[in-house]
Parts: sequence; C-alpha cells; structure tokens
Amino acid sequence: MEDGYEASGEFIDVLSGPAWQVLRDPVWAALRGVDPEHGPVLDVGAGTGLGTQILAGACPTSTVLAVEPSPVLRAVLLSRVAADADLRERVTVLAGDALGAPLPERLGAVLAANMIGHLPPQDRREFWHRVAARLAPGAPLVVNLQPPAEPAVVGFTTFGAVRIGRHTYEGGGSAEPAGPDTVTWRMRYRVLDGDGVLREQTVDYPWHVLSEHDLRAELAEAGLRAEVGPMDVVRAVRAG
Ligand SMILES: C[S@@+](CC[C@H](N)C(=O)[O-])C[C@H]1O[C@@H](n2cnc3c(N)ncnc32)[C@H](O)[C@@H]1O
Repeated sequence: MEDGYEASGEFIDVLSGPAWQVLRDPVWAALRGVDPEHGPVLDVGAGTGLGTQILAGACPTSTVLAVEPSPVLRAVLLSRVAADADLRERVTVLAGDALGAPLPERLGAVLAANMIGHLPPQDRREFWHRVAARLAPGAPLVVNLQPPAEPAVVGFTTFGAVRIGRHTYEGGGSAEPAGPDTVTWRMRYRVLDGDGVLREQTVDYPWHVLSEHDLRAELAEAGLRAEVGPMDVVRAVRAG
C-alpha cells in the first residue's frame, strides 16, 4: 500500500504536539466511563501515538490496540510505545487500516482522531458499522470534526512552528475543492535556520469533508447517538 505520509512523516509528530495539547482535555472527557471488562480500547489511524497516549491515560487499566497504516508514522508510534513502561505493557501496534485491521468482537472504546477525512464516504459508513457492531453498551466512539465542513477554498495558513535546536520546523497548508465531498489539501513543511529555508516539502492529499449534520446522520444510521463537545470532539455511544 502506498504511504501517504512518506514525505511528511518526518514532521508530523513534532508539529502535532501543540494541537494535541488543545485536544487532550476534550478527548479525555469524551472517553469517560470506559469499562476495561468490555474489551480493548482502539486507536484507529493512531499516527505517531500522541492520541494513543491520551487514550491509554484515560483508560488506565484497559489494553490498547493502535492501528496505523503508514510505516513511517508507525515507526514513531512503536518507538513512543516502547519508550514507556506502561504503554509497552498495554499497547499493541497493528499495521493495518480502518476497514482491514483485525478487530476483537468487543471493544471498550474507539478513538479516531484527526483521521476520518482520509476515508471516502462509503468506507466511512462501513467503518461506523464495523465499530458500532463491536462497541459495548455505553462504550464511546470518539471522533473529531475538522474544517472545512464542505468543499471550500481554504487560504494558506501556517498551522504551527516548533523550534528544535537551531532549526524551526514549520507546517502549513491550503485546500481546494476537489469534488462534491472532497478537498485537496496542499501541505507545506519547511525546516528553517533563522530566516533561511534549509528544506521544503509539499504534499497533496485528498480529504473527505464531513459536516456535523451528516456525521450525526451517519452515526445514527449505524445505531450510534452522538454528542458534540468542545473542540468539535464527538462522543457517540450505542443508541437505546
Ligand atoms: C493527521 S494523522 C492523525 C494521527 C493521529 N490520530 C493523531 O491525531 O495524532 C491521520 C492518520 O490517519 C491514518 N490513516 C490514513 N488512512 C487511513 C485508513 N484508511 N485507516 C486508518 N488510518 C488511516 C494516517 O496514516 C495517519 O496516521
């Protein structure tokens, strides 16, 4: 399988850190009430493991599955897990994707952070059903909505800059409509030394947009009732 993060993978962990400082509390709160007896908790599209770490912290006695298709991000994920005695004991890293990764019959929680736009609409619906069939009653699916909610032009914005040693790692991007439910993000990653640009990497990828209205409807169709919290973090549990 092609690795969509081959070129950007070097930058994802350092540039995602600040975003996770903001997401941490809403995601932690949305993961309330997890019962370790219900089964392992799952991080889908775990990336470099920043969310996996939160999931493991919020569910301190659960076993954790971290599914990640990108070899470069998975290497960082595995390294993060291996470096922490508690994560090393509880987290199993799986090379796979949202629809193909083997899952147990029951799950205590599912985290799908910053990733749902990678799934085309049909795959996304299949994913909700795959998860809903495994979530124990009261067990949460936690997913976040990310702009744009509709195919729209997004002007170039710098998302973040992190200084490490002499260098500053900077990430930004812009988006263009690319179909009825898709935009193409053009991401730009730069390594700066002072004002000088040492390296620059541009990566284009498709992103399937999703509004709150459509998310609620799709989750309801899969038997899940959603509530939207701070930072557009959505907690969904089995309805009824
Ligand atoms: C923006 S990153 C977010 C990573 C991590 N969840 C976080 O928030 O730090 C999107 C992630 O989704 C993963 N991904 C892409 N397509 C996927 C698929 N079909 N199934 C599961 N994960 C996928 C990517 O490899 C990447 O790790």
